[in-house]
Amino acid sequence: MSSVWIILLLLVMVCLVMSTGNRCVLGIIRNSVTIPCEYENEGIIERKNISIEWRTSDSLIVHSFVHGEDKLDNQAPQYKNRTKIFKTEVEHGNFSLRLSDIIPKDMKEYKCFFHKEDSSTSKRVDTVCLNVAGHYTEPFISTSSHRENSEVDFTCTSSSGFPKPIDLAVTCAIENERLNETRTSASFYYNKQKPDNSQPSSNTGVIIGICVTLAIALGIAGFLIYRRIKMPQRQQPQDGPEATYSAVSTS
Ligand SMILES: *[C@@H]1O[C@H](CO)[C@@H](O)[C@H](O)[C@H]1NC(C)=O
Ligand SMILES: *[C@@H]1O[C@H](CO)[C@@H](O)[C@H](O)[C@H]1NC(C)=O
Ligand SMILES: *[C@@H]1O[C@H](CO)[C@@H](O)[C@H](O)[C@H]1NC(C)=O
Ligand SMILES: *[C@@H]1O[C@H](CO)[C@@H](O)[C@H](O)[C@H]1NC(C)=O
Repeated sequence: MSSVWIILLLLVMVCLVMSTGNRCVLGIIRNSVTIPCEYENEGIIERKNISIEWRTSDSLIVHSFVHGEDKLDNQAPQYKNRTKIFKTEVEHGNFSLRLSDIIPKDMKEYKCFFHKEDSSTSKRVDTVCLNVAGHYTEPFISTSSHRENSEVDFTCTSSSGFPKPIDLAVTCAIENERLNETRTSASFYYNKQKPDNSQPSSNTGVIIGICVTLAIALGIAGFLIYRRIKMPQRQQPQDGPEATYSAVSTS
């Protein structure tokens, strides 16, 4: 029984290490970002002996670097002319990828694979998720028609941001020149969108789920081990009668 206990404990520890190993970087639309990948090597590796491949979690080839040279004939078309590996850095184990002209669809996980000439296997060095955001333009207010003593419709415009806005706040001010008086409304918050917390597809959630499950299993195992004395059955408290709520709307 105690060996089960130790195995579970080890699994939980492995889980915790795995679930904290996922890094994310933020890229701004139309700008560039460096997606980091570092290989802790024993010194300088000759560039000719290095092959690197960057792939997305959905298996698109983002950039290939074979025997020290870019090899881009298998590159996925959406990454054409937008990627760069730092040739002078690779010898020091820095396989970071520069991605330019970022678009919202770039938001996913990127995996960096490395192969050294004198070893038979390639290994995955890093997995990094890329989050993408875009600045909104300065909002401006416009009105299409202005009629004396009647309602006026205003339009507040701001564009090209990403993701969708969570909050839009609008304030209205009316000035009466003769009374030298300005009335200002409270801000109106238009809060229609749920915050977009979506992350690039990642297995962190699954790993955390497994960790939680294991932690519960660990707890149960511990309980079973240390429960020496059987507790007398106790009567479960009865649930009260179900409450019924009704809403009355007034107009
Ligand atoms: C590069 O690889 C060759 C064999 O393919 C090996 O002889 C050489 O020592 C390697 N160079 C370095 C710096 O690792
Ligand atoms: C990439 O750049 C080359 C040369 O600058 C150009 O001819 C080609 O059309 C570009 N490809 C894409 C997909 O933008
Ligand atoms: C890797 O190289 C890039 C480009 O020169 C640089 O921005 C980045 O800081 C380097 N990373 C490390 C760990 O040196
Ligand atoms: C209106 O208010 C401003 C500042 O509060 C003041 O300087 C100005 O004299 C006032 N004008 C009138 C007509 O009361």
